[in-house]
Amino acid sequence: MDLEALNKIAVKMVTPGKGILAADESTGTIKKRFDSISTESTFEKRRDWREMLFRTDKAMQDHISGVILYDETIRQDAKDGTSLVDLLHANDAIPGIKVDMGTTPLAGRPGETVTQGLDGLRERLAEYYELGARFAKWRAVIEISHPDQYVGATPTLGGIKANTHALGRYAALCQEAGIVPIVEPEVLMGGHHSVERCHEVTEMALNSLFTELYEQGVALEGVILKPNMVVAGQKCADQPSREEIAERTIKVLKDTVPAAVPGIAFLSGGQDNEEATRNLDMMNKIGGFPWKMTYSYGRALQQSALKAWMGDDANYDAAQIAFYKRAHMNGLASKGEWSSALENA
Ligand code: 13P
Repeated sequence: MDLEALNKIAVKMVTPGKGILAADESTGTIKKRFDSISTESTFEKRRDWREMLFRTDKAMQDHISGVILYDETIRQDAKDGTSLVDLLHANDAIPGIKVDMGTTPLAGRPGETVTQGLDGLRERLAEYYELGARFAKWRAVIEISHPDQYVGATPTLGGIKANTHALGRYAALCQEAGIVPIVEPEVLMGGHHSVERCHEVTEMALNSLFTELYEQGVALEGVILKPNMVVAGQKCADQPSREEIAERTIKVLKDTVPAAVPGIAFLSGGQDNEEATRNLDMMNKIGGFPWKMTYSYGRALQQSALKAWMGDDANYDAAQIAFYKRAHMNGLASKGEWSSALENA
């Protein structure tokens, strides 16, 4: 393992002012996104949408350090025949790849899932490296059950461990292949749970994750963590302030994440655009932690552009303007330099 090379990639992924664009929606997920704009999800339309994002001037060069691609996209060419990977290289954005194969119900643990995709992963990583990928993503999903549920409440320690074990195995294989693993243990934000419960479960998941990374020989200097922020469930009546979200998130990370990790790139998880920007900005304004903190957003970078595009080429410019705006605002947030005045300018 060339740790120096891995560390160089990881550090570049979290360059201040930049973050990661998660454009790795599976065919099923992108179909849902396209359904919301009444657009049929075809091979060409998916290409058009992603090509439009990757060709957005200034958004890409100034605010996107890397892009997480899906298996289809890493092999796809732009309309003019340039490969989409080469489009990213032209913008100095690092190509990444989602390598997990989604979740499956965890046997013996009703209500919990485990992420699959370890079988054959060594061979798939070797191919993705050849195709240009220098980082990868694996997402584990941790769901908090309703606060009134005592019997069969989730997550269980067994459920968390099954998922973090897979993350450790995946991360070790990535590093062997010269690929930086993004490790993503996502505590979902749907549901009725309190911010305190999210804090507790996030702490459990991150502790378990870093134990696994240690036990499986993963070098932390060559890893990027992609966590959720500590928020209340969307259906919880009692919603925390932006300050509380920032303070709790920083605390849980300080309590669990070693300083050797170069950077933390958050998922947006269903937060609305401005919320995801504001919360990241608040953490960077507070500061006092050893890692770079930035974004690895899917929805919070793409949603407004998707609505502007509506699947119609005539809206190409409007969609690029919307994407640039989110990339720019999040770029500022990654340095703690965002403000509502700039947002509304
Ligand atoms: P969201 O920002 O939409 O949560 O997506 C990020 C991601 O890559 C989830 O795995």
